Amino acid sequence: MKIDVSFSIAPFDELQLRGKNIVVIDVLRASTTTTVALANGAREIIPVASIESAVKISGSLFGDVTLRGGERNGKMIDGFNLGNSPLEYTEEMVKGKSIIYCTTNGSVAMAKSRYANRMVVGSFVNMTTVVEYIATVNDDFLLICAGRADGIGNFSLEDVVCAGMVITKLEKEKGCVLDLSDSSRAARALYKSFGRSLYKMLRESEHGKHLIDIGYADDLKVCASVDSVPVLPQLVGTSVRLLKEEANENLDMQGK
Ligand code: MLT
Repeated sequence: MKIDVSFSIAPFDELQLRGKNIVVIDVLRASTTTTVALANGAREIIPVASIESAVKISGSLFGDVTLRGGERNGKMIDGFNLGNSPLEYTEEMVKGKSIIYCTTNGSVAMAKSRYANRMVVGSFVNMTTVVEYIATVNDDFLLICAGRADGIGNFSLEDVVCAGMVITKLEKEKGCVLDLSDSSRAARALYKSFGRSLYKMLRESEHGKHLIDIGYADDLKVCASVDSVPVLPQLVGTSVRLLKEEANENLDMQGK
């Protein structure tokens, strides 16, 4: 199994991602927020690449079951119902809802993956679920690190450390023999250096510092919490969902 890591979504267009198996990683915060929203009963996340697309799509959907969520520069977009803090995506807010989702990098990476063979959303909160999925599929994967919010394509340490953790767990816990690209080996090495305290790494990262500055310090604890939301968001058609059995199982486990 070949594992490649891209440090950015920028080099790819939709057609280059066609037919690939992809994990989109945006720890702060699109991957984490998507995972939390679906675990709290959101029907689907519809990722879009621009605010214009979000407005256009939501105009054609029913108002009471559709919400618009996302951010620019970390803050809620004018006219949207939700920002991008995982703490906003409570069961009360999102259960049964379709969420049109627009963020600076994460939703762009998800939207660009629409012709992928498989696309799942990965972060620290659903780490083991993602690792088990890759090991079961047992095919080549591209781990896309979505990057920093202040410009498409910027390297973001937390996403690369997360990719490195996926690789380390595949090797050490699942016994997978991997064919690693140079970028995958670099991600694994960065996980070795920074993986001991994920929360500290997030607090000291560039985007982490920005989120603290604008009042979202509490999000970092949520995003650093390994395996706290063990579900697998995956691309089905043009939206990201939990498979039906998993969604029911998850609500049963929470006693809902
Ligand atoms: C992104 O898509 O760039 C991020 O998720 C930004 C954020 O949540 O602050």
